[in-house]
Amino acid sequence: MVLTHYTKNHGEEAREGEKLSHESQELLLSLPKEKGWRTPYLYKYQGFWCQPMEIQATVSFQKHFLARDTDVVLATIPKSGTTWLKALAFAIVNRKRFPISNNHPLLSYNPHDLVPFFEYKLYANEQLPDLSNLSNLPQPRLFGTHVPFASLANPINKSSSRVVYLCRNPFDTFVSSWHYTNKIIPKTQAPMPIEDAFEMYCKGIVGFGPFWDHMLGYWKESIERPHKVLFLKYEDMKEDVSFHLKKLADFLGFPFSLEEERAGCVEKIAKLCSFENLKELEVNKAGKSIKNFENKNLFRKAEVGDWVNYLSPRMAEQLTKVMEEKLGDSGLSFKVLP
Ligand code: A3P
Repeated sequence: MVLTHYTKNHGEEAREGEKLSHESQELLLSLPKEKGWRTPYLYKYQGFWCQPMEIQATVSFQKHFLARDTDVVLATIPKSGTTWLKALAFAIVNRKRFPISNNHPLLSYNPHDLVPFFEYKLYANEQLPDLSNLSNLPQPRLFGTHVPFASLANPINKSSSRVVYLCRNPFDTFVSSWHYTNKIIPKTQAPMPIEDAFEMYCKGIVGFGPFWDHMLGYWKESIERPHKVLFLKYEDMKEDVSFHLKKLADFLGFPFSLEEERAGCVEKIAKLCSFENLKELEVNKAGKSIKNFENKNLFRKAEVGDWVNYLSPRMAEQLTKVMEEKLGDSGLSFKVLP
């Protein structure tokens, strides 16, 4: 019954609707909605704008996920360096099992294959993930998510599991999101004009936005509970990857020994996970690791300050104002130029 509501509206929404449970369809009907960037609508669930399938997956995760004390959750808002963070964390915690060598898993698998997303992989289907699989994941289990802290908090707070949040300046994140959207929309759909995307972004209407609430949720938690949440910034990592790699390893409980440091282990991991290395690997040029999206689109420029090539001075001023207003005196600030 509820499905007809979708089929009447849009082809794409109908397709999404078909995959949604009756319960999720009912839930959507009760949520505020806005035109989406790529899908017909984004819905506001627990304060954040999400696609229907993301909401269904989040509900399922919240109901069923049982965290373990050793679990690690890698959280980001889309296009903030998720792929990089997953690669680094995987290489760090598994370095005894998989020393940096010519047959390291990161050379044949995309980081999203090695560190599954809650919402796009483990809880993406209405059926529960194979729990035996979930419990067989190597320790510590690494998970990825774009879910905001408040939505994540319930299952995660009940355990001593740790959370790493990687944040990127909103200027570059916006430009990266806009490029990505236009690469993955169906060829039959017109590209999204940057001005339209920008207006929506500044209003907070973007996947898992408003970006300021997403960032502040994790930021505040990292200040209150620094042992629970590590807050990293993309720009800082680009500036000194070795320093942040060590910080990440310490936080995850896998510090580098002096011998490892002397043997150049930190630099080897940094190089293995670098944009330049990952981008050129066959698996990242050809595969599809997140839903049906091509891996090659996950690697574009990886620069700090690329936004200057796309945003007009007026747009830059507008976004600066939004950030000043929304981030206020939180203490969260960004480097927006190299
Ligand atoms: P750009 O579009 O600015 O190039 P996510 O992984 O969250 O989807 O983020 C994608 C952004 O991270 C893209 O930014 C992409 O190029 C960049 N990126 C991908 N792999 C990276 C890596 N190994 N190191 C640094 N940045 C990387």
